[in-house]
Amino acid sequence: MTDQINLAGRDIVSIWDFSRDELEYIFDSTAEVERGGSAKVLDGKLVALIFYEPSTRTFSSFEIAAKRLGSGTTGFTAPDQSSVAKGETLHDTIRMYEGYGADCIVMRHNLMGASRYAAEVASVPVISGGDGSREHPTQAMVDLYTIRKAFGKIDGLHIGMLGDLRYGRTASSLSYALSNYDVEISMVAPDLLSARRETLRYLNEKGVKLFQVTNVKDVISSLDVLYVTRIQKERIPDPTEYERVRGLYRVTLDLLKQGKKGLKVMHPLPRVDELASEIDGTDYAGYFVQAAVGVPLRMALLRSVVGG
Ligand code: NCD
Repeated sequence: MTDQINLAGRDIVSIWDFSRDELEYIFDSTAEVERGGSAKVLDGKLVALIFYEPSTRTFSSFEIAAKRLGSGTTGFTAPDQSSVAKGETLHDTIRMYEGYGADCIVMRHNLMGASRYAAEVASVPVISGGDGSREHPTQAMVDLYTIRKAFGKIDGLHIGMLGDLRYGRTASSLSYALSNYDVEISMVAPDLLSARRETLRYLNEKGVKLFQVTNVKDVISSLDVLYVTRIQKERIPDPTEYERVRGLYRVTLDLLKQGKKGLKVMHPLPRVDELASEIDGTDYAGYFVQAAVGVPLRMALLRSVVGG
């Protein structure tokens, strides 16, 4: 099935736009890059990285991916030091990078839907590096690929998501991506940070077996993956609300010992205090592999979208 797939010219602004076959095609292509690298198929191309919010992994892994494929890169990660600070609109910024000859625009924005808008303005492909609190499609692909790499499959697994499921875009994007598979999802969050109704409705409509609990101890023994996220302090509208939820959950080795053999802990990073560093050197820790596969996966994406 996947041999007929062609992603050339595609925008990647929502995980909703990708079918299971297309995801599998991207994962097969990532595995190929992991095995043997890739030819410099983007030689002479230019990838613009425009990041309106702080980023370490997403920015760097896209930059490294573009360079390994032979592409040049340009852009910014600190909008306060670019013309954005003078009031330049997203529309004008996009048009300008196109004028400079960008063959693809990778962008991160604080507003939900900003990359979809940018994709409408741009005539070259736009890839979201995360926008607002709903979507981070390439992180969801990285996360699914990490699961597939660890377990050799995604179907049949029970995934627990712990943390800020309301304001965190990675958990929300991952849950949408998982709905293409036959999985069980347990949403574990304090009430104030529980998954948004639109997310639950979507997952229910897609027939995902969904459980909602407030204490991770209630589900830990049946999980294959525990996906942890930090509290998105910067997105919580009311600071007193943050004070009420901070420190409410923390994953320790003791907790993981109550889990199944083979349990993997994932985290999109950065972590704050929700994931104890004592886990880092153990077989539970999947998060550094998860970060590392960001490069080959984004190479696979860029070469399919820009190089194809
Ligand atoms: C995440 C993000 O920006 O949404 N980071 C990432 O891309 N790995 C997670 C976060 O900031 O908590």
